Amino acid sequence: MRTLSSPPGPKGHLLGDNLREYARDPLGFLSSCAQEYGAVVELRFMGQTLYLLSDPGLIEYVLVENNRTFSKTRILKRNRRLLGDGLLISEGEFWRRQRRLAQPAFHRKRVDAYGDVMVAFAERSLEAWRDGQTLDVHEEMMHLTLEIVAKCLFDADIGARATDVGKAMKVALENFSSQRRLIRIPRRVPTPQNFRFEMAARKLDEIVGTIIENRRKSGEDRGDLLSMLMLAEDDSGERMTDKQLRDEVMTLFLAGHETTANALCWTFWLLSLAPDADAKLAEELERMLDGRSPTMSDLSNLPYVERVVKESMRLYPPAWVVGREAIAECEVGGYRMPAGTTALMSQWVMHRDPRYHEAPERFEPDRWTAEYAKALPRFAYFPFGGGPRQCIGAGFAMVEACLILATVAQRYRMDLAPGQKVEPYASITLRPKEGIHLTLVKRSRGG
Ligand code: HEM
Repeated sequence: MRTLSSPPGPKGHLLGDNLREYARDPLGFLSSCAQEYGAVVELRFMGQTLYLLSDPGLIEYVLVENNRTFSKTRILKRNRRLLGDGLLISEGEFWRRQRRLAQPAFHRKRVDAYGDVMVAFAERSLEAWRDGQTLDVHEEMMHLTLEIVAKCLFDADIGARATDVGKAMKVALENFSSQRRLIRIPRRVPTPQNFRFEMAARKLDEIVGTIIENRRKSGEDRGDLLSMLMLAEDDSGERMTDKQLRDEVMTLFLAGHETTANALCWTFWLLSLAPDADAKLAEELERMLDGRSPTMSDLSNLPYVERVVKESMRLYPPAWVVGREAIAECEVGGYRMPAGTTALMSQWVMHRDPRYHEAPERFEPDRWTAEYAKALPRFAYFPFGGGPRQCIGAGFAMVEACLILATVAQRYRMDLAPGQKVEPYASITLRPKEGIHLTLVKRSRGG
């Protein structure tokens, strides 16, 4: 390999470490690094070297072209207690096999069939909503998307347990963010925080365990993802162990609802701040649906609904950063990348880059014309990642977000509740720091 120099980067504090600045404001820090130092920026977090890549071609190189030189990061793998060896963090042949097994549940035709469940659950939630009521839309959406993923993939009615899961998820995500601290306390040390995390993890284990156990008892093949995973046999005729099943179900459970819930609550909030976009959305829904419930086949006639969702995920990408670790030395953007270096690729940074998105801070659903999308470099907008590890639920999530938005926005407009300060909190996902409290205003039909 040619002799290459190191990328530029901020000086940092203690022994050149940047973790403190990053931990204080991850979104702002990464954005300013990209702005100041360019396409490849070197960072150091507690002795570990990271390269922030902010160029579509370089991101494509890591996620697609040269994906075999990279693995998932150690940071992500610290979440083994919850995610086990599920799809999100498993690697190699095992990952490939599991992905192949799960894939049919996400085929276009299957996702189409989930549409009715999505709308039915959204309508069930709406039954409890009242004109003038103020809600935490984040909490509502977490509840709803959890119920949907449990029903569609595992044919389980989570109902009352959704609140338990929501609480446990919150603790688990706080725990993830705390790993950014300069001093990380190992899981096995009995601190109050570790204790809370363990309790939350056990609660989730119990809920997922019950879903699996009930299906085992019934012995029925319901043709859903759970049955598919349970009945699959490898080359030697072995079926998945309970632990493997648990890991996959837990991963899909967690990856499959928080992200979509975030996408939706950011969408409702952005619409509350943009009356023109909101009016345009209401007009499209009224014209195309005329008061009836949306179905899958309506989606192709609701282009504005899709534009709103895309634009919301541009400004507030639920997955705001993806990371990969180099398993062998390679060259990235003219710099040497030693084995063990982590590549950070941030949707937050790329989606707000003025080179690709004009007036990037503006919420402008109308920018999403077919020409706009076509002209964008592949990784100037990548809410679902890319390459072989691209989100398996991308199609599911888009359909779900569009159908829920259409169902809700047809009936209600939402206004920001007084005194609300909405701030993004960059944990493993991008969620609102203190929820999003919006007041429901019933729409009058015909205007
Ligand atoms: C708006 C909603 C969603 C967003 C923004 C999102 C985003 C992402 C991203 C960026 C990745 C790639 C991570 C990486 O490369 O390291 C990913 C992976 C994954 N997502 Fe999603 N996701 C969403 C919804 C869903 C849904 C609904 C499901 C399942 C029902 C799901 C299941 C998964 C799984 C299992 C993986 C790991 C795939 C693999 O490595 O083979 N996601 N998601």
